[in-house]
Amino acid sequence: MKVIHTVAEMRAARAGAGDLGLVPTMGYLHEGHLSLVRRAKTEGAATAVSIFVNPTQFGPNEDLGRYPRDLPRDLGLLEAEGVDLVFVPDAAEMYPPDFDARIEIGGVTEVLEGAVRPGHFAGVATVVAKLFNIVQPTRAYFGQKDAQQSVVIRKLVRDLDLPVEVIVAPTVREADGLALSSRNSYLTPDQRAAAPAIYRALSAARDRFAGGERDAEALREAMRAVIAAEPQMRIDYVSVADAQTLRELAAVQGQALASMAVRLGTTRLIDNLVLSA
Ligand code: PAF
Repeated sequence: MKVIHTVAEMRAARAGAGDLGLVPTMGYLHEGHLSLVRRAKTEGAATAVSIFVNPTQFGPNEDLGRYPRDLPRDLGLLEAEGVDLVFVPDAAEMYPPDFDARIEIGGVTEVLEGAVRPGHFAGVATVVAKLFNIVQPTRAYFGQKDAQQSVVIRKLVRDLDLPVEVIVAPTVREADGLALSSRNSYLTPDQRAAAPAIYRALSAARDRFAGGERDAEALREAMRAVIAAEPQMRIDYVSVADAQTLRELAAVQGQALASMAVRLGTTRLIDNLVLSA
């Protein structure tokens, strides 16, 4: 496994790699990331993982400073998976002092996470475009847990004709339903015990949908009712939206994305389920 720190070295290593799958990450890897790595390995000749805590996707009052990091552990996990290339640039390598570019995607970034975290998706789109240009993967793998991010990245690729196939893989969950996230490490034992309410709420919407409910507000209300029973949780948003445009629906026809963001103390968690007839 080759660990690479500079853009120039990464380009040189990529040149000899042929068909290549890339799993972009911010490190502190968990089974969700590793499931993407395993899928990339089964679908391609070579596999690259990037580890970069991207400062431009964090707002001024967000958790950039305390975002969990453990590079030696991450590298051990990736070595055990048989990854070929790991790209670990530092912030100065990705954003030299005269860096001025910013990719803004309209529409799908204006709602949900984008409404609560201004600038977040411009940071994501810009760094992902840079990673695609540097690594030039054949395929890139993202988790369904960040559903809006996946929609934004698909739009980035389509609108800018980037020659990358985007693959979105299912969310990996703990036994109690909590979606795996590096941010789960912030939770106190009390908060961790409360956190599965997020999946229970999404499941309540899914069950109501399976029972024939198509009124989107009734589905949102079913989710709010579960969260309301957890006094530690505060809702940022609860949504039943079109899975492509991410616009809120009045009635669900066909598919919809049920999603939510909640706060547990100072930790913000997101999750979603696709409602599909
Ligand atoms: O999902 C993430 O970990 C990040 O948003 C990504 C895609 C690696 C960009 O920094």
